[in-house]
Amino acid sequence: MDSSKIKDRIEKLKKIIDDYRYHYHVLNESLMSEEAADSLKHELSELEAAHPDLITEDSPTQRVAGQILEGFKSIRHQTRMLSLRDVFNLKEVNDWESRNLKLVDLKNISYFVDLKMDGLACSLIYQDGYLETGVSRGDGFVGEDITANIKTIMSIPLKLRETPKYSFLLKARTEIRGEIVMYLKDFEELNKKQQKLGLKQFSNPRNTAAGTIRQLNSKIVSERKLYFRAYDLIRSIEEIKTVEEEYLALSELGFITNKGSKKLKNLKELESFIEEWQDKRKTLEFNTDGLVIKINDRRIYQELGVVGKAPRAAIAYKFVAEESTTIIKDIFVSIGRTGVATPVAILKPVVIAGTTVQMATLHNLDEIRRKDLRIGDSVIVHKAGDIIPEVVKSLKELRNGQEKIFQMPKACPDCKKPLTQNDEVAYRCTNSSCPSRTYKRIVHFASKSALDIEGLGEKNVIALLDSKLINDQADIFKLKESEVAKLERFGQLSANNLVDAINNSKKPDLARFIYALGIRHVGSKTAEDIANKFKTLDNLVNAKEDDLNEIEGIGQVVLESIVEWFNESENKRLLQKFKDNEVFPLEREQSRNLPLLNTSFVITGTLDNMDREEAATQIRKLGGTFQSSITKTTNYLVTGENPGSSKLLKARELEIKIIDEKMLMNILKNKASLG
Ligand code: IVH
Repeated sequence: MDSSKIKDRIEKLKKIIDDYRYHYHVLNESLMSEEAADSLKHELSELEAAHPDLITEDSPTQRVAGQILEGFKSIRHQTRMLSLRDVFNLKEVNDWESRNLKLVDLKNISYFVDLKMDGLACSLIYQDGYLETGVSRGDGFVGEDITANIKTIMSIPLKLRETPKYSFLLKARTEIRGEIVMYLKDFEELNKKQQKLGLKQFSNPRNTAAGTIRQLNSKIVSERKLYFRAYDLIRSIEEIKTVEEEYLALSELGFITNKGSKKLKNLKELESFIEEWQDKRKTLEFNTDGLVIKINDRRIYQELGVVGKAPRAAIAYKFVAEESTTIIKDIFVSIGRTGVATPVAILKPVVIAGTTVQMATLHNLDEIRRKDLRIGDSVIVHKAGDIIPEVVKSLKELRNGQEKIFQMPKACPDCKKPLTQNDEVAYRCTNSSCPSRTYKRIVHFASKSALDIEGLGEKNVIALLDSKLINDQADIFKLKESEVAKLERFGQLSANNLVDAINNSKKPDLARFIYALGIRHVGSKTAEDIANKFKTLDNLVNAKEDDLNEIEGIGQVVLESIVEWFNESENKRLLQKFKDNEVFPLEREQSRNLPLLNTSFVITGTLDNMDREEAATQIRKLGGTFQSSITKTTNYLVTGENPGSSKLLKARELEIKIIDEKMLMNILKNKASLG
């Protein structure tokens, strides 16, 4: 970006963040998630760090949070109430430690870690053990006297509890800091009450807690359930030497502290703590968006001092966000196996929920228009866990006029045949031999919920298509190990495994096979219904429209799609090719009753009574799977004479049952009599 563009971007970021803050804190409305706003703030800080000359006083990064409210007496904090610098990943945590280690003369630093609660900070001043004053954070230097209000919070002791170990804390001045929070269940209850009374809904627990504390009428405060959870105790470092001890004292003095908080010997231990709380936090009674990590030794903490408005010795680690902002660099069209043309956004790579997101489906042109998404737009992207990423909205305020409106191409980007649109939203490529469609059909055919052929994922399908070893789904069944092994992606072992897996799929369950064909509108449930009705593939091929009509739940659209599929000459040829390549889906009853269905075997060493091929045939006959090497899905390792040690080891490691030839024979005999 050239400097005028950077300046422009900074200006726009400042404005959008400021708007967000105004709506959130003043109007009690949310323009976007906090995570998305954080991501914008992060972008702004990074730009400002790289171009310090562009930092202005009105930048949100320079702002000290909080303002003094009229109506409350102002109180100057004896010790400034600081904020924390946010970090977003382990690298930033480690960099923080490295910087600190340059400033203090130490090899190892131990830490104390706590959950970062989402509420409002409050300071309590106890004189000789008695609560004297409650002060809000204000601008960090001066806060509001909220004593009357916080006295209605039951978890704030009006007198510190006597404790022999910490009796000195009941003498002179002890300042306790913590977070005032509203628990989620109380927040929901409050909103239910509001609804019944026809009153406005509160937007979130934190704002509600903050709004409550700012009430001039403490009666209203007493009617709302709030909690105080302590995290800081201010006394001299000679008296309380570590943060860990602070927490012990806080709890003995009668405060709630987080049970999960703990001392860490080093930052290595932080990893598992993060992992534990990333999901567990969702089960807590209150909201939390991260962890607070502090250097445990209070002397070092003090020595390290303050930069800006944050102590050097503590940071806030923000949990993996499920939302972030990025830029749509381009939009391309992807052709699916049924020919549907789906616009996909190419994004500036962004890490969300632990994975780098570079693409997101935009579903169809209507959706793009509805959300007014343009190429070049800054957008909010959401991704939770394994769910596919979604472009939530575009941030129109950040547009610079260079954004382009996306147009659906007239022709298929792959086979160049025209894209057509009937009365539905989708555009489609109707050329069934379009290379994109062929590729997607094969990937679908081999996928987990279809024939589940291990080793036949997207990249291998591309390699097999490129080398012309296959042209369609049926071709995979005549692949030879020697041909596959010659391809760059494969070695002898992986070629062996793939061909084994393919051979093991030659007698698929009928429903899976029907689903695998990729007939438009036929999902796994419909495939199951069809298989139950027709029992064999031949019956289905010869079925009349009326027969299909008898299946409950199959509507006209699905029915037409099935009939059309079986009528197409290319599909007829495909079905013949499956037969030629010895692919015979099992008859329905037959596949249901097969005694070794979903059971897989690996053999190591030489068997006395039969060779491997024979054993494999017998296993397959009973519906079982014969594998050439051990995987997580293996059920039995059969050991013959001179078994291979690596297979034995792997079987032990994966806790796979190890049996000898006699036991295999017994299984085959017993199961055959069952079958
Ligand atoms: S320790 C230098 N511990 O987060 C401030 N703060 O961004 C040290 N907060 O103002 C604060 N949970 O209101 C600390 N377990 C916790 C916290 C916590 C929430 C808030 C606190 C503070 C803000 C810093």
